[in-house]
Amino acid sequence: MWEKGGAALFLRDIQFRWERISQSQKRQYPFQLPAYRSLDTLELHQPVTFFVGENGTGKSTLLEAIASLCDFPKSGGEILAEEHSEAHELLLDQVLRLSWMPRVRSGFFLRSETFFNFASLLDRRKQEKDFGGNPYSRYGGKSLHQRSHGEAFLDLFQNRFQESGNSIYLLDEPEAALSPMRQLAFLSIMKKLVDTKRTQFIICTHSPILLGYPGADIYSFDEAPLQKIDYEETPHYAVTKYFLNQRDAMLEKLFEEA
Ligand SMILES: Nc1ncnc2c1ncn2[C@@H]1O[C@H](COP(=O)(O)OP(=O)(O)OP(=O)(O)O)[C@@H](O)[C@H]1O
Ligand SMILES: [Mg+2]
Repeated sequence: MWEKGGAALFLRDIQFRWERISQSQKRQYPFQLPAYRSLDTLELHQPVTFFVGENGTGKSTLLEAIASLCDFPKSGGEILAEEHSEAHELLLDQVLRLSWMPRVRSGFFLRSETFFNFASLLDRRKQEKDFGGNPYSRYGGKSLHQRSHGEAFLDLFQNRFQESGNSIYLLDEPEAALSPMRQLAFLSIMKKLVDTKRTQFIICTHSPILLGYPGADIYSFDEAPLQKIDYEETPHYAVTKYFLNQRDAMLEKLFEEA
């Protein structure tokens, strides 16, 4: 296991093997997205990596392709055979190659849009007579549908993610369900997991709070190709800061232009 700054790193880089597709394919989704343009290798140096950028710049598409290569279901969740049949076809994973040191098979792919489906899947498992064990045991002991969106998310983080073993967590906008206080709680859970040296995170986010995780690498998909930027350079930080400091002036200008 390669360690940097005392923390673990498993997935070390993501290579784009453009020679695998034709010139005409390169002009089509998802390969034509500017963030991927002439990108050869995306290196990961920290246990926490963020993908940021405008809506539609290709963050989720890349995260889904990584999840697919990790053998996590594309619809989100962990390895549950039933979900594979529901997965829609992805192309980007055919071009990518992941370099591991060491290869990690445990983890979770969290898509907030499909979290509801995952909760329903656990409920169906509970109904199945031949399903060995309690499907809720790793998720706080009861149906995720019996809690609010944010409570269910934090249950997931606090229970499922506390398990030991080398793991990689791919999270797509985990802040969607969380209040600002719960986002801080989530940062604290992340820190504890990173400190175990057994956890790596890749997170797509629009949250200036989550992005504040110390020492994380932030990749901006607003650039072509995507590139690393500092926290203070993100619009999430700059716009939020400006809005909070100059709310009246900013709103006045905004509404004048409207
Ligand atoms: N199946 C598809 N076919 C064609 N285009 C698609 C398909 N799925 C997504 N797109 C487009 O690809 C682009 C990237 O989508 P993606 O979901 O990766 O964006 P994102 O960076 O995660 O955005 P957001 O911040 O809004 O979640 C978008 O413009 C989207 O409309
Ligand atoms: Mg997205």
